[in-house]
Amino acid sequence: MTTEQEQQLEQELKSVQMLGLHLPTDPRWVNLAEKDLEEILTDHAYCEQKAATSCISLIQQYPEKQDMVKELAPIVTEEWGHFRAVLSEMEKRGLKLGRQRKDEYVNELLKFQKKGGSREEALLEKLLVCALIEARSCERFRLLSLYINDKALRGFYHKFMISEAGHYRLFIDLAKQYAGEEKVKIRWQEYLTREAEIMEELELRGDRMH
Ligand SMILES: [Fe+2]
Ligand SMILES: [Fe+2]
Repeated sequence: MTTEQEQQLEQELKSVQMLGLHLPTDPRWVNLAEKDLEEILTDHAYCEQKAATSCISLIQQYPEKQDMVKELAPIVTEEWGHFRAVLSEMEKRGLKLGRQRKDEYVNELLKFQKKGGSREEALLEKLLVCALIEARSCERFRLLSLYINDKALRGFYHKFMISEAGHYRLFIDLAKQYAGEEKVKIRWQEYLTREAEIMEELELRGDRMH
């Protein structure tokens, strides 16, 4: 992304409406999250690892989608860079990476994916789930970047917010390219509705990014 594109995204993110999410995060989540940085940073690190892994899987599963392969290859590097950035932030603070936890949010979204369709249909489901996780992560990074008490961490989270907003856009654009605007529009609304329900069903936890 160029600096200009980043500035534009930042402007647009002033209103998180651009993400389309139906339910804003309870602002108390930031207070819960900052109580134990080792916990939230550990969960964040694995979110980045999973983002990198998902991009690698898409490349493996759909090598014939040349545009997608070309777009996602650098995202793998970027997401792994995010993992490393979290790791080094933890190291600076004398915190240790813990074990990966069950990701109930992502598991619920995966359950909502339509199964048994064609490869093309499966691709649309995968791209929309990726877009949704990026959108919600972006919304949460934004809250952390604005309200966390530790000033140094505000800047740290701001960078993630910008980057994940770009990824959200990319996944939506790829979905439109391969499935067509109309299909994406309909299915995306269904995902947004389900995502809001999931957010309501899940307990608000300070040790989870979602
Ligand atoms: Fe990331
Ligand atoms: Fe991302």
